[in-house]
Amino acid sequence: MAANKKLLILPGDGIGPEVMSQAKRVLAWLQRRRAVSFEVSEALVGGAAIDAAGDPCPEATVAAARAADAVLFGSVGGPKWDGLPFEQRPELGILRLRKELGLFANLRPALLPDALVDASALKPDLVRGLDIMIVRESTGGIYFGEPRGIHRDAAGKRVGIDTEVYSEEEIARVARVAFELARQRRHKVTSVDKANVMQSGRLWRSVVAEVHQAEFPDVALEHMYADNCAMQLASRPLQFDVILASNLFGDVLSDLAAALTGSLGMLPSATLGALQPDGRRHALYEPVHGSAPDIAGKGVANPCAQILSLAMLLRISFGMAEEAQMIETAIERVLASGLRTADIMQPGKARVGTAVMGEAILRELDKLAAA
Ligand code: IPM
Ligand code: MG
Repeated sequence: MAANKKLLILPGDGIGPEVMSQAKRVLAWLQRRRAVSFEVSEALVGGAAIDAAGDPCPEATVAAARAADAVLFGSVGGPKWDGLPFEQRPELGILRLRKELGLFANLRPALLPDALVDASALKPDLVRGLDIMIVRESTGGIYFGEPRGIHRDAAGKRVGIDTEVYSEEEIARVARVAFELARQRRHKVTSVDKANVMQSGRLWRSVVAEVHQAEFPDVALEHMYADNCAMQLASRPLQFDVILASNLFGDVLSDLAAALTGSLGMLPSATLGALQPDGRRHALYEPVHGSAPDIAGKGVANPCAQILSLAMLLRISFGMAEEAQMIETAIERVLASGLRTADIMQPGKARVGTAVMGEAILRELDKLAAA
């Protein structure tokens, strides 16, 4: 089935290696119990790569990622590297991988399992059944636009510049991803921009409308200003199906959507490139949460987002929908049984650490496999 699929693991920094070790146990379980075989390798990224090789995204890591069928990424960054020059910071590890592999479509589902309805930042009635897919453009916009930098003006005062740039091709290709996903869901796309203020936003709105009219008339499209979208997400989130946004707006709105689900510790993501002529598609899977330096090394981090990222990888890159579903079901059952890591702890539930959560998921997988 998935024999010889090449999987590259990049644990990174902070809680990255801790939660990744639980994802690796799930991988080992799959190889043992489901007779699938992957070619798994591991490389350095972020602060870990700075320490070992002086570069947050060494050429060897980029080459390994290019050669892989899929990349499972942990998280990068931490106070240890805060003092480094801007061009050397750990975050460049993920930004460069996105750019080098052309990973332009960042899929961030915000899904609220019934067991966690009370963990949400909103009242249960406003969020029960929440199932939003944010499609965030991830190789363009203000994250990469030129000119950028801090320089001195004629009077010697410092001026900081970032540039939001989008070509119509960049907008159209990520819009297509959003519309295609909507077709598999509830057929609605909300496209986010600031067309009332930004020129790039005006173009964003026109191109999305053109792609919609020409190729996806069966999907409902609405345009929403980014500020209004933030307000709507925080007050009436059930109205959304797929949200399409630029790199920066998608970054902000996906953290907000995560808060609706109660914890960043639960949310996986996929970042996909274009389909290549040989039928391959570069793809990287990572939790939406960061390296959480404040709890790193304590064994308390929630491994669910990392393990759910592995499930997304199996489904999207390896065509293993059944195994992906098993993992998702196992996690739902563990939550339903009352186990909670600190980030999703609720009164009356049993608080456990990273490894115990991982073990509980393996036990549920055993039961599912035996059924
Ligand atoms: C994310 C993160 C990254 C981003 C950082 C770590 C560069 O916030 O993936 O949402 O801004 O894209
Ligand atoms: Mg972010």
